Amino acid sequence: MKNIIIAIDGPAGAGKSTIAKIIAGKLGIEYIDSGAMYRAITLKLYQLRCDLNDEVSINQILEDTRIDFIKNSIFLDGKNVDEEIRTPMINENVSLVASLKIVRQKLVAIQQNIGKNKSIIMDGRDIGTYVFPHAHYKFFLTASVEERAYRRWKEMHEKGFQVNIKDIKEDIMKRDDMDTHREINPLYKASDAIEIDTTGKTMEVV
Ligand code: DC
Repeated sequence: MKNIIIAIDGPAGAGKSTIAKIIAGKLGIEYIDSGAMYRAITLKLYQLRCDLNDEVSINQILEDTRIDFIKNSIFLDGKNVDEEIRTPMINENVSLVASLKIVRQKLVAIQQNIGKNKSIIMDGRDIGTYVFPHAHYKFFLTASVEERAYRRWKEMHEKGFQVNIKDIKEDIMKRDDMDTHREINPLYKASDAIEIDTTGKTMEVV
């Protein structure tokens, strides 16, 4: 089968990107982190101090923005922003930016275009439900909020951020709430997705 699409959805910290990278490596296909795209746009809008109610400016900024994935790294207008998009500031604001209709329209179009002529594994919130409703394989990863907060805390701690687990848990719960209750393309499990609860499981088991 050529041009295989594998969709992995689920809330923050469920283990989507870790698993997606491993599968991409094993199958020799490209991994696309759609959350990184929403993070990159958030970074740009905040750097430009754009008013999130100003649709005209946001539209112009989106028109002038290039996002590329090269070897699992994300480039915003030609610059590698892997580190810059994973700060507490972006964590706090990304769900709000991701709830904007024009932002979603632009990013979904890019995502669908990437999967047009090649096999990919893409993770996010609406990949199996909206971006690729006819994906060949769909998975929905979950984990308890405590475990997801711990995983994010460990990740941030290892990067040198002074963060406390209680704040991270609150941030994750807030993002879960916004991601599942937003009007456009909210997070939910596609009826034909295989659900995997990763709580207490190693990557190998998952
Ligand atoms: O996967 P992540 O935590 O890096 O995603 C960051 C945010 O982007 C997440 O809180 C919601 C949003 N997002 C989205 O709305 N749709 C996607 N397909 C992927 C991410």
